[in-house]
Amino acid sequence: MRILVVGGGGREHALCWAISASPLCTKLYCAPGNAGIADVAECVEVGAEDIPGQVALAQRLKIDFVVIGPDAPLVAGMADAFTAAGIKVFGPSKAAAQLEGSKSFTKELCRIHDIPTAAYERFTDLAAAEAYIRKRGAPIVVKADGLAAGKGVIVAETVEQAIAAARDMLEGNRFGVSGSSIVVEEFMDGEEVSLFALSDGEHVLPLAGAQDHKRAFDNDKGPNTGGMGAYSPVPILDQATFDRAMKEIVLPTVEAMKQAGMPFKGVLFAGLMIGKSGPRLVEYNCRFGDPECQVLMMRLKSDIVPALIACADGGLKHFDLRWSDETALTVIMATKGYPDSYPKGSEIRGLDAAAKVPGVQIFHAGTRRDGDRMLANGGRVLNVTAMARTVQEARERAYRAVDLIDWPEGFCRRDIAWRAIGSQR
Ligand code: AMP
Ligand code: GLY
Repeated sequence: MRILVVGGGGREHALCWAISASPLCTKLYCAPGNAGIADVAECVEVGAEDIPGQVALAQRLKIDFVVIGPDAPLVAGMADAFTAAGIKVFGPSKAAAQLEGSKSFTKELCRIHDIPTAAYERFTDLAAAEAYIRKRGAPIVVKADGLAAGKGVIVAETVEQAIAAARDMLEGNRFGVSGSSIVVEEFMDGEEVSLFALSDGEHVLPLAGAQDHKRAFDNDKGPNTGGMGAYSPVPILDQATFDRAMKEIVLPTVEAMKQAGMPFKGVLFAGLMIGKSGPRLVEYNCRFGDPECQVLMMRLKSDIVPALIACADGGLKHFDLRWSDETALTVIMATKGYPDSYPKGSEIRGLDAAAKVPGVQIFHAGTRRDGDRMLANGGRVLNVTAMARTVQEARERAYRAVDLIDWPEGFCRRDIAWRAIGSQR
């Protein structure tokens, strides 16, 4: 099969790395890709959100199967465009991607089907939102309804903060149309984990759990980011909790989407809050997490390609994937300044030595090659990923590799997996 992966971050490097190992894959392309992805796939300069451009590329390259990595093109209907062009695709339709693209869509689905999540109301009018916030009190959470590049959620500690956030979104046009409707919801206490499952629209194949680290700095300080590190498996998502989340959250969602005539085909990423009363849904994403995907691909022992194809074709029912019992852990190296503004083009040295640490794989999230030099080309730049028998050892290996990378303009957190093993190394 000739396969095209859409995207150019660390998630897509991990996907390309796994797909390129499949005997089913005769030729692998990635668009736009990056300098690391170029080691396992042929990269083509077409933007990940350029729907007509990606379809034209797939036609020109005679692609048999497309794997869409990021959320924005899925929410915008890229999978539908490939389907309309007669090209098999991994990734949900625009209708099914509403699970990520519209918070109120998901909240309403949860309400109708009794799926455990925070109590909420949706508002387009500030006075009504303000009255609700005053009635519920703080802490309380205010969310832009649509996609807002991970920045549309305000966890307010006071009523005033919550009202200010609602005003910003509804009247200050803070997130454009994404914020012209907002969801105000109950604050949930607990520990967050990510659960992943494949679906062909009817059947569900559970994958595994992972835990992300969203804040930029150690001890969960600093601004929210796309994710600064992850590990899998996660102790708090034990088998019983995993099974319960599947039964109470994921399976009813897939069934509800099927009943509604928008079968979800792809990977469902459930952001869960594990509290005293068990798992509750924080949000859905309609694609692999980044950086969660990197640790999942490290642990996956089976060929991923047939499983991805089964999501598109059906037949996931008969599937079984094998996972390593070991722990995979990834440390994100980002350009200083991320997630705000940061320069591009600083040189990274020492990657070859770092890659030789046992059990280590370095995925590239934002790099560019300039002759023999490797240059940073984004906010999140490298995902230094390690596997080992224990989470301690995986962390030790990952940081040993990090320390061999010579990149003064970069930074990373030093405490990945602190919830599993504490912050001391
Ligand atoms: P979301 O984009 O919905 O995942 O929200 C971003 C982050 O805000 C989540 O990862 C949580 O850390 C936090 N968050 C969202 N909703 C809630 C909630 N109802 N209670 C507590 N924290 C929340
Ligand atoms: N790491 C969180 C996300 O991909 O949304």
